[in-house]
Parts: sequence; structure tokens; C-alpha cells
Amino acid sequence: GKGGYEHYMLKEIHEQPTALRQTLRGRIEHVTGDISLEDFPEGTFDGIRRVQFVACGTSYHAGLAGSHFIESRGVPSQTFLASEYAVSTPPVDDETLVIGVTQSGETADTLSALRRANASGARTLALTNVIGSTAARECDDALFIRAGPEIGVAATKTFSSQVASVSLLGERIVRDVVGHRSEDIEAVLSAFADLPDHVQQILDFTKAHRIAKRYHDSDAYFFIGRGTAFPVALEGALKFKEISYEHAEGFAAGELKHGPLALVTPTTPVFAVFDGQNDEKTLSNVKEVEARGAPVIAVTSDANETVSQHVDDVLTIPDTHPDVAGVLANVQLQLLSYHAAALLDRPIDKPRNLAKSVTVE
Ligand code: F6R
Repeated sequence: GKGGYEHYMLKEIHEQPTALRQTLRGRIEHVTGDISLEDFPEGTFDGIRRVQFVACGTSYHAGLAGSHFIESRGVPSQTFLASEYAVSTPPVDDETLVIGVTQSGETADTLSALRRANASGARTLALTNVIGSTAARECDDALFIRAGPEIGVAATKTFSSQVASVSLLGERIVRDVVGHRSEDIEAVLSAFADLPDHVQQILDFTKAHRIAKRYHDSDAYFFIGRGTAFPVALEGALKFKEISYEHAEGFAAGELKHGPLALVTPTTPVFAVFDGQNDEKTLSNVKEVEARGAPVIAVTSDANETVSQHVDDVLTIPDTHPDVAGVLANVQLQLLSYHAAALLDRPIDKPRNLAKSVTVE
């Protein structure tokens, strides 16, 4: 059942501290920087030179977080929309690892992309929540995110667990390919160790309900971010449109001025996601939209006063490592979408036209 919550989505948002503890359990030793991933001991990825992620929707956004993590640590990595990958598969060989990120393990587009990769000689890995799923059975390897069952059509806790998982898996890959651990790995692992408590703090103190109310009569909702905050902007907008039926778009913060800025007016609130790493540049993009009269709501660390001084409202997140901040920012945006949809009385757990598992291409 819904455990006292009005919707599965809200229940699953609140399950995130538990889901993340399950994802991380036994896998990290943050004091020593060690990682132990069941079937993936040291050396598992010897011989791999590049990593491609294929996925759809929310899982695609987790894939983007994964390739950012891996590439910023020295291993070439890209993320592809599975539906496009299946149409024009990039060159792959036996030094390519192709990771399908799929909560259900049954998404037709993702299975088809993985089959293409496999037929071209790549090594395939399923990152999934479902043991025994088609993706888990068909790929060379599988890593389970252990988030527990997700009933709401909108993916919430599985996104958080996917991002945690691609990071741990990413670090294992980096160690095997580059030959040494990432310099900042103790800080990353310690941020992951703190993540369940940090998510709990957001759940306990969020103002997302008030913000949803304040802006609920708007014409459109835009989400911007750069670096690790970019996939969060995309995910924030996807969730928002999916369950509220309001027009929402996510953009790379720097792309606004190349077109989307034409849409920005005093009735289009802009949610700016900050990861603590590229904040000054994003702040200059915030000034561009403010000059057009748009209200700006920052999702940023409570330690960041420079940002809070320049915006209309703030959804705060605990101070953490930039590679982990996105998960926290996304929890605030999940709550925002939930409350916006609830105010509009939408069927939150079963939005129109959508299915939990999309088994057609
Ligand atoms: C959005 C959502 C979808 C799925 C997508 C892929 O909230 O749930 O975008 O993320 O259909 O599904 P999986 O991860 O099962 O392959």
C-alpha cells in the first residue's frame, strides 16, 4: 500500500534515504576509499578504453551523470538516447563497454540499443533495478541498484539510486582503465555516505510546497543547469511536465541565450540548479533571465550566499561534493513537481498517455 501517503510517488520520494542506504550498503568504505561491487572486483574492466551509456527518459539523465563522472576522471564516455542509438549505432569494438541504464530492465528502446552494441562486439552491462529482467539476462554483466519496487509511473527513488550506482561503477571502471583511483574519491565516497541523511534533511525542511503554490499559475516552467546540474535541469523539467501537464523545459544554462531566452517572460519562472562548481557562470545566465523579468528560484547549497542574494526564492540543499549535489537538488525538484501536480489535482501515479514500462520501440 501507500503507507499513509496520498500517492505512491510521494511515498517513493520519502523512501529515498532507505533506498540509497540499500544501494550503498556494503559497497563503499569511505575512510579508505575502497569500493566493493559484488561481481566487479578490481581488474574487471581491464582492456576497456571507452564507456557508452544508452537509456531513455529519467534513466538517460542518470546516464548523463554517469558519463560526466567517468569522463571528468579521464576515461572517454558518452551517453546516448537509446532510441537514437538503435538507429545509428556509433562505432564500437571489444574495448567499448556499453551500459544500459534501465530501471525496469524491459524498455524496448534500451534493449534494442544493447542488442545493437552486442552485435557490434561491445561488452554490455545492465544497470537495473529488476533482478531477472530482460536487460539483466541479456547483457554480459548486470549491476543492481537495489532501490526496491517503484510503483509510481514517475521515476523518483530509482533515479537517485541510479546516480549513486553509476558513480560507484564509474569509479571501478576508472581505476581499471586509468590504473589508479580518482584523486577526490574519499570526498566523493564520504558525500555518498552522508547522502541518505542529507536527503532526509531536505524531506524534513523543504519549502517546495510553498514555491509550487507561489508560481502555480505560470505560463511555462524552465529549468537550467551546467555541469552536473545539467542532467538535473533536464530531469526536473521531465518530471514537471509528466505529472503536472504544464509546459516545462530543461536547458543547459549556457544555451539559453542561443534561442530559448526568447520564451522567457515575467510569467515563466526559471529554476536554476547550482552544483557548487560552476556557480558564477550559471549566475550570469540567471542575470540574463532576470533582465527579462522572469522570477528565478535557485536550487543551491545553503552555504552559497552569493547565489541566494541574486534570486527571488531558494530551495536549499546541504553542502556536499559537486558530483553528489545533483541528487539532492533533484529531490527538491521532485517535491516541487509533486506539489505542483497535486495543486492541479492530477492523477499523479498514473499520468495520462504514459506507462511504467515502455515495451514498444
Ligand atoms: C519518467 C520515467 C521514464 C523512464 C523511461 C525509462 O519519470 O519514468 O522516463 O525513465 O521510460 O524506463 P526504464 O528506466 O525502465 O528503462
